[in-house]
Amino acid sequence: MGQFPLTLSRFIIRSQAEHPGATGEFSSLLSQIGLVGKVIAHDLRRAGLINILGTTGETNVQGETVKKLDEIANDTFLRAFQGDGLVCALGSEEMEQMVSLPENWPQGKYMLLFDPLDGSSNTDCNMPLGSIFSVLKYTRADRPPTEGDLLKKGVEQVAAGYLLFGSSTMLVYTAGHGVHGFTLDPGIGEYLLSHERMQIPERGKVYAVNEGNRHKWTPGMQRYIEFLKTPDKATGRPYSGRYSGCLVADVHRILLGGGVYLYPGEVDKPEGKLRLLYEANPLGLVVEQAGGRASTGTMRILDIEPKKLHQRVPLIIGSRDDVETVEAFTQGRA
Ligand code: AHG
Ligand code: MN
Ligand code: MN
Repeated sequence: MGQFPLTLSRFIIRSQAEHPGATGEFSSLLSQIGLVGKVIAHDLRRAGLINILGTTGETNVQGETVKKLDEIANDTFLRAFQGDGLVCALGSEEMEQMVSLPENWPQGKYMLLFDPLDGSSNTDCNMPLGSIFSVLKYTRADRPPTEGDLLKKGVEQVAAGYLLFGSSTMLVYTAGHGVHGFTLDPGIGEYLLSHERMQIPERGKVYAVNEGNRHKWTPGMQRYIEFLKTPDKATGRPYSGRYSGCLVADVHRILLGGGVYLYPGEVDKPEGKLRLLYEANPLGLVVEQAGGRASTGTMRILDIEPKKLHQRVPLIIGSRDDVETVEAFTQGRA
């Protein structure tokens, strides 16, 4: 007889038992993320039928076009976390300022940062999407949190992960003890443990980058991509290019099979495109916990001292050896 599947809730309770002193709030927070995933997945599946594709006509704080689904996913996170006493502050890629809870509402000890819908250019063509989350702890008792409290280095995250809305819905997270992946079984409405203790291969054969930007890159980055395309049996080159336009999906593929995802800085825009607090830090923690590496090209992502909420950062993330090779090129050592 096969083993009975382990649900997300059972897995969390079991892990909690290994941490004496745990109050259960963290477990509730993860379950709530799971619920947010079910709600967003439900909307995405029907999106083409209920007029929620396309744009709202607005641009967000990043100067990017807002999709209707960006707003819906953001509202879903807000509704799920505003009133349930698990968090005391929320920061989102789609909101200019931090949201704190009214004083007379229950305040939790966590702060949540999120990219509600990642890869939103994929909404209208039935391609994969994701959501990314980062959990910080609020430890002060003398005053309510302010925006400055969200500006913590990635190493200070207590948990992080993502939801992937692909051919199946997955929740992948780390709480600092390995990375675990759950797949939503739509038949029973439960997340079941499908990938325990995920480990990224030390080196891969896949690279993910938007090569349309080539002319904007530094010479080191251009040389690295040329290197990947140059055949060499010993090092497994040429690599295969795989780019979905959804960071979560591309990083998930690399987490499973190895390789490297790059959104480099550009000569005229050295800070790159992706956001430190909502994208690079949480995925950086996940990938490091799986044995990989996340870098700007010159430093470890998780060691960056954030200066502002919507800060951008160049991101090179994936298998340890691959990221180190990129660093050698960007630092002029190769
Ligand atoms: P978001 O939809 O949250 O703004 O993120 C989009 C990100 C990421 O998911 C993806 O890898 C990258 O931007 C795609 O950017 P390009 O279209 O510039 O390649
Ligand atoms: Mn994103
Ligand atoms: Mn987004």
